[in-house]
Amino acid sequence: MELKISKTKQEVAENFTDFLVHLMHDRSPLHVALSGGSTPKIVFDELAARHISEHIWENIHFYWGDERCVSPEDDDSNYKMTLTHLLSKIKIPERNIHRIKGENEPYEEAERYAEVLKKEVPSVEDVPRFDLIILGMGDDGHTASIFPEDIDLWYVQSPCAVAEHPDSGQQRITITGKVINKAETVAFLVTGESKAQKVGEIIDRKEGYEKYPASLVAPVSENLFWFLDSAAAKHLTSG
Ligand code: 6PG
Repeated sequence: MELKISKTKQEVAENFTDFLVHLMHDRSPLHVALSGGSTPKIVFDELAARHISEHIWENIHFYWGDERCVSPEDDDSNYKMTLTHLLSKIKIPERNIHRIKGENEPYEEAERYAEVLKKEVPSVEDVPRFDLIILGMGDDGHTASIFPEDIDLWYVQSPCAVAEHPDSGQQRITITGKVINKAETVAFLVTGESKAQKVGEIIDRKEGYEKYPASLVAPVSENLFWFLDSAAAKHLTSG
């Protein structure tokens, strides 16, 4: 596990963009699962702002680590957020964008997306192996859409599962632990004071940390990075 701590959110975005651009030049094609929520917005804006030569976008395929079960036009949609902050600004071929269809019946979509991953992402021992999975972490220690209240979803055999937000009841499609820990590289993007408590508990393995799904992220490759701002890192003893 490698901590990359920056002073501000903007610096996290710049450092992560450098990291991703390096990967993009290093490997082709690159299969990347994106996280949702609000943290990635500043990263996607920075990534889109970089004068990255157009041809390079032909070599990157975007997927989602999770999606809300809403239409792609809904303000809650992770796809819509990504379209606004990144995809609408870059010349990436349509065929390189593998959207989770939040408008579909959830259980059917979890099956469909699992098939998409098996078809599009090279597998290792029958498990789709992403080059990079970007993850966020909720204030409650959830990641992707695996919440502490339903942490057993992490262990299901399928690459994708249907989750439910514990407060809103909103259904989500999420990738599962077997896919996350198979990835070549996993990068957490976590910023803000509201995350500091859980970041400290998980990274410093404080008592009870195992109840947080984010603590289960341990790629076999051991290539795990935490991109943090100083607000999110403030409780770290090992930072
Ligand atoms: C989602 C995300 C989720 C997110 C965390 C952090 O669909 O909401 O994938 O796992 O990464 O909830 O969200 P913020 O970046 O908004 O704090």
